[in-house]
Amino acid sequence: ADPRLAERAAAAKEALGGKVFVLGHHYQRDDVIAFADVTGDSFKLAQQAAARPEAEHIVFCGVHFMAESADILTAPHQQVILPDLAAGCSMADMATAEQVEQAWDDLLDAGAAEGTVPVTYMNSSAAIKAFTGRHDGTVCTSSNARRALEWAFGPERGGRRVLFLPDQHLGRNTAIGELGLTAADCVVYDPRRPNGGLTPAQLRDAKMILWRGHCSVHGRFTRECVDEVRARIPGVTVLVHPECKREVVTGADLVGSTEYIIKVVDEAPAGSSFAIGTELNLVQRLANRHPDKNIVFLDRTVCFCSTMNRIDMPHLVWALESLVRGEPVNRITVAPEVATYARKALDQMLALP
Ligand code: 13P
Ligand code: SF4
Repeated sequence: ADPRLAERAAAAKEALGGKVFVLGHHYQRDDVIAFADVTGDSFKLAQQAAARPEAEHIVFCGVHFMAESADILTAPHQQVILPDLAAGCSMADMATAEQVEQAWDDLLDAGAAEGTVPVTYMNSSAAIKAFTGRHDGTVCTSSNARRALEWAFGPERGGRRVLFLPDQHLGRNTAIGELGLTAADCVVYDPRRPNGGLTPAQLRDAKMILWRGHCSVHGRFTRECVDEVRARIPGVTVLVHPECKREVVTGADLVGSTEYIIKVVDEAPAGSSFAIGTELNLVQRLANRHPDKNIVFLDRTVCFCSTMNRIDMPHLVWALESLVRGEPVNRITVAPEVATYARKALDQMLALP
């Protein structure tokens, strides 16, 4: 790493003072995370963005859907900057607004739209969040998916079924693992097939309509990885993110968001062993922070999130220095007509009990 980049980032932050607030997701590189004022999972970062009205510029070291959500939750005079516009999320790209409108039409045709509550994972475009808001649904993250489903099915909202977008694994793991629904209650809607590949009766009878989307990083973990690590490290605690496949989650000891994973490892006694199934920057950071604990990556191969990794020191310095010059680059703005309904769905998430 070029030490001059760290000096330039520090100088730019100093020159900007309280005008800039840098948010860093836990999957960011170590050298970038060193400049974050706050680090967190998607939920905490959304809360933090909303809680800083004094910051003129929010530099979001994360991916595009997170920066969009920050723009929606902040005041109009605040600018949200994503240091590299190519930092997207392949999972979020698996549901387009057109596909989701088509799915809703399919539900209408099947007589299944009434009683269906859309619940969209934070990892989705602002347009999908707006669809969710228009149909009185909610956004969720991996740290509140259970509460989101309980709200959707509970007396306040009174849903008979949920359309869960776009991560089938988070939806399935939460519905079956935390709400006690069964595999028979869940169907998978494939946006590439007519009517999602489902019959009208299947749409009507389902309690969970899971969008056919997944995370390519967490999709790499398999049940074999879990069995192999248990054989190799006796007494190991297997700790995974709920974006992992169902058979990985059922084979694990603990499951939760990035913030939860950090808390579990930080609070464990010296000598504990963990095999962690989530993005590698975070796992390596935990291993470096706890030399007295045995922390291994659940997969044997390297598994970074390539889009999270696009935010690197050259891009961070470029973004911060553009703010010092008064010529901001890479501002993320969501059109007002989209933002209004997306905000409704985000506010519903922030209001979950
Ligand atoms: P968290 O909300 O757990 O930080 O997860 C975000 C994400 O993109 C996981 O892939
Ligand atoms: Fe998207 Fe997966 Fe990367 Fe998270 S880890 S940002 S879900 S591609």
